[in-house]
Amino acid sequence: MNKKNNEDSKIDLKTYAATQRKLIDQALNGFLPRGSVRPKTLHKSMRYSLFAGGKRLRPILCLAAAEACGGKIDQAMPAACAVECIHTYSLIHDDLPCMDDDDIRRGKPTNHKVFGESVAVLAGDALLTLAFEIVGESNPNRRYDIGDIIKELAITSGSKHLVGGQVLDIEGENANIGPKGLRFIHESKTAALLTCSLRLGAMSAAATPKKLEALTNFGHSTGLAFQIIDDILDVTQTSEKLGKSAGKDEAVNKSTYPAIHGLNKSRREAAKLTETAINSLKIFGKSGARLKELAHYLLDRDY
Ligand code: IPE
Ligand code: IPE
Ligand code: MG
Ligand code: MG
Ligand code: MG
Repeated sequence: MNKKNNEDSKIDLKTYAATQRKLIDQALNGFLPRGSVRPKTLHKSMRYSLFAGGKRLRPILCLAAAEACGGKIDQAMPAACAVECIHTYSLIHDDLPCMDDDDIRRGKPTNHKVFGESVAVLAGDALLTLAFEIVGESNPNRRYDIGDIIKELAITSGSKHLVGGQVLDIEGENANIGPKGLRFIHESKTAALLTCSLRLGAMSAAATPKKLEALTNFGHSTGLAFQIIDDILDVTQTSEKLGKSAGKDEAVNKSTYPAIHGLNKSRREAAKLTETAINSLKIFGKSGARLKELAHYLLDRDY
């Protein structure tokens, strides 16, 4: 791609992401109980973190996957909102003093700093549960029913994936876990939910098993690259830019890609994974163009 086309495509992606973000925010707003509903503190706390300004990458990927499979955004929206609820719950809990103990998230004080630890834990619980209520509103189609969608979300969020990865991440502080152990943590705590976002989008569009498999491979590679970049940004960026505290991983001796492999090797690995991800999109032909752009964006992002 020449420089001008590359710049054009970046502007186009920016506009596309902004449009999708707006639609996702509107839908989320509709699914979330108002802050005036009892218990007000809980609903305010859930809304506080959900609307604090996240990038909405998982729901954007979910909708893009649906489109790549010839589906409609409306059909994928419940799943898109559900994965964002699960992601936001995981961040609220991730920031707790008993976990990563962070004071800023999405450019604002963390949930427990504003609402206290008890409400933060419970807001996380409620967002996790709400995700299942929301996907319950998905429409079944000729290939996948609501049971398939709920199972997908439950397995991804559970002890063998997201939650399990978080446990291993905490146990990986001050420990020598090696490259394979590290990869497993990143696959579990981060790549699993990214993959699930794409798969649910595809399932909402009644994707063929081959397309679903291609998106699973795409999600696995981009998801791993995503957490590698997150580890790199923790070392190279400022807290202001990230909207969360930079330099924390090293301070608590976390097992991360830069810590185990160094910055350069980590960058090369993320680029290689992105290439692998893009190669798995071949089956989509032109319909895969947006997902390809998103994969590049996830790699090149600076926050
Ligand atoms: C941060 O995810 C947590 C990780 C899994 C690395 P994002 O970088 O997508 O955070 P938000 O949603 O934009 O705040
Ligand atoms: C978090 O990983 C992954 C989750 C499942 C929440 P990190 O602990 O690296 O995420 P940040 O850097 O706090 O966003
Ligand atoms: Mg963490
Ligand atoms: Mg953290
Ligand atoms: Mg991090």
